[in-house]
Amino acid sequence: MNNFKKQIIQGIPDALPNTQAYNNNINHAPKRKDILSEDEKKLALKNALRYFDAKHHAVLLPEFKSELETYGRIYMYRFRPDYEMYARPIDEYPGTSSQTKSVMHMIQNNLNPVVAQHPHELITYGGNGAAFQNWAQYLLVMKYLAEMTDEQTLIMYSGHPLGIFPSNKNAPRVVVTNGMMIPNYSKQDDWEKFNALGVTQYGQMTAGSYMYIGPQGIVHGTTITVLNAGRKIAKHNENLSGKLFLTSGLGGMSGAQPKAGNIAGCITVCAEVNLKAVNTRHSQGWVDEVISDLDELVTRVQKAKETKEIVSIAYHGNIVSVWEKFDTENIFVDLGSDQTSLHNPWAGGYYPVDISYEDANDMMVDQPELFKEKVQASLRRQAEAINKHTSKGTYFFDYGNAFLLEASRAGADIMADNGIDFKYASYVQDIMGPMCFDYGFGPFRWVCTSANPEDLATTDSIACEILEKMMKDSPKEIKQQMSDNIQWIKGAQENKLVVGSQARILYADAEGRIKIAQAFNNAIAEGKITAPIVLGRDHHDVSGTDSPYRETSNIYDGSQFTADMAIQNVIGDSFRGATWVSIHNGGGVGWGEVINGGFGMVLDGTKEAEQRLKAMLFWDVNNGIARRSWARNDEAIFAIKRAMEAEPNLTVTLPNMVNDKLLEKFFKA
Ligand SMILES: NC(=O)c1ccc[n+]([C@@H]2O[C@H](COP(=O)([O-])OP(=O)(O)OC[C@H]3O[C@@H](n4cnc5c(N)ncnc54)[C@H](O)[C@@H]3O)[C@@H](O)[C@H]2O)c1
Repeated sequence: MNNFKKQIIQGIPDALPNTQAYNNNINHAPKRKDILSEDEKKLALKNALRYFDAKHHAVLLPEFKSELETYGRIYMYRFRPDYEMYARPIDEYPGTSSQTKSVMHMIQNNLNPVVAQHPHELITYGGNGAAFQNWAQYLLVMKYLAEMTDEQTLIMYSGHPLGIFPSNKNAPRVVVTNGMMIPNYSKQDDWEKFNALGVTQYGQMTAGSYMYIGPQGIVHGTTITVLNAGRKIAKHNENLSGKLFLTSGLGGMSGAQPKAGNIAGCITVCAEVNLKAVNTRHSQGWVDEVISDLDELVTRVQKAKETKEIVSIAYHGNIVSVWEKFDTENIFVDLGSDQTSLHNPWAGGYYPVDISYEDANDMMVDQPELFKEKVQASLRRQAEAINKHTSKGTYFFDYGNAFLLEASRAGADIMADNGIDFKYASYVQDIMGPMCFDYGFGPFRWVCTSANPEDLATTDSIACEILEKMMKDSPKEIKQQMSDNIQWIKGAQENKLVVGSQARILYADAEGRIKIAQAFNNAIAEGKITAPIVLGRDHHDVSGTDSPYRETSNIYDGSQFTADMAIQNVIGDSFRGATWVSIHNGGGVGWGEVINGGFGMVLDGTKEAEQRLKAMLFWDVNNGIARRSWARNDEAIFAIKRAMEAEPNLTVTLPNMVNDKLLEKFFKA
């Protein structure tokens, strides 16, 4: 047995590994707020030491205490394994179950340093989106997965493996919950406190559910969004050529914006305060040029506009300065958005203007109240500058990062006249909701566990063939979606989108997802694909997420503040054949602001896999369409009626419409 397998099977080593030097060359999580009282610190240490034999406590105690005091969390750095962290070909994992080995493949991808945002702190993306809270949890989980059979289920409580319980072959192999709280304990500081205590974590969406596929996932969604935003502002059906898209963030997901801008064919300016993030995205080829001087930026953008050049530019600096500068210099912005991490505003998600990046990092720890004031003042300035641009005709949309929500909390001039809605729509209200989710189109994805690019190329051509066949009979309502995705999959290889595992994403509806999955399963059975495929999706989808300011922001019957859909979805997926399911509090817009869930499903070429994929994928999409249709969304009513025609066992309660004039008659003064 090779050393890697031995280390996996060993789990938490009996002899303490050597301590490791803090590597300053990689991107680390910001220091977290010192929020625990003396007694709570003792509790956090007792909690952390639960993973280790008492004989090690005297050594580990001062070390963990120092981590807690220095970083605000106990990551157990000493236990970070010394093998390379990446999604290995499935055969390289120890164990007997291809299902659990697939989960290991996905976990290692989430922690791969080329994929993960803060790999040593086990943060995959979004500043605080954790796969695990500490390295002991990782080691135990990998060991359990290697030992498990297909008649057991691993139970994950916010990164902590509670244990392996007996179940059966049709049950999920892993059930994950992340950040689930008693509702009254879901404020930002509750996350700080309970995460520091080591009893919960922020799983974001695909971080804590092992379904992250690097920036590709978001490139696709962002491309679709920018393309459709372009269609929205087009006066004569023209494309985005020569038009300017101004936004911010070059982090985990935001880093996809310049690449998406290039694919959509516009000029993109993306501001980013963190030089490491700028350099990462530039070196990966996700952004074409880097400029750190505002005057130079203005000249460069003017030139690109004149020549209608397709180019993406990273501005190393604060987004507020760009909005303000472009206003005074009269640079017309066609499309505007923001993708700073405002779901996490006080701990490094948003950097205030006029303070250096380094000073801001110190201030958020040493003077959290002052930092909060600076963030809020900066948000007010940013909103004011954006308002000036929109009065000149810019189309601004909230990009699901809680920008409008936090700006409104900061007292920015961002509310609509009715005092309830925001001045600007979110990208889901205007674009993704009515054009995609309500029809069942969402971010379906798959990963080839062979880690072989040739398998991925085979899946690409299978998926393309299926979509092209389906497109011939597609109703006019969904033809645009089908054609965008065919174009995407055709260009996918050329656009070199893979970072980490051999993964692909495209938007498909229930029918498309089922047909593609079925064809993959057949290809595995026939040996055309050499190893199992993991199916999954972003939680940011038709049915997976209840989030009133994002995924369900185009629900207008009042139910956008309920979370029945996401909970039902995960329960339903789990008994219809998912290999793993997860349900999270927080993700995207913030802790306490969203409930979201997802699944992973392993296709191994068997008949059982075929039954599972048909049953589960049908539910996984149509649950959300049914809910959206009950909320009276026309597009969803169309889609669910179509689904009922295709599936006689489906009966969905349809809404009756009330005549508004009749309603008003009874409310006349
Ligand atoms: N668009 C989508 O479809 C979508 C989907 C999911 C999530 N999101 C949301 O988008 C946000 C960004 O996600 P991410 O993974 O890229 O997070 P991230 O934390 O990795 O990146 C955000 C980046 O913004 C930079 N930044 C912060 N304040 C800045 C400022 N004032 N000026 C310039 N740069 C600044 C940070 O340095 C950081 O690199 C999150 O809130 C996320 O939830 C969007």
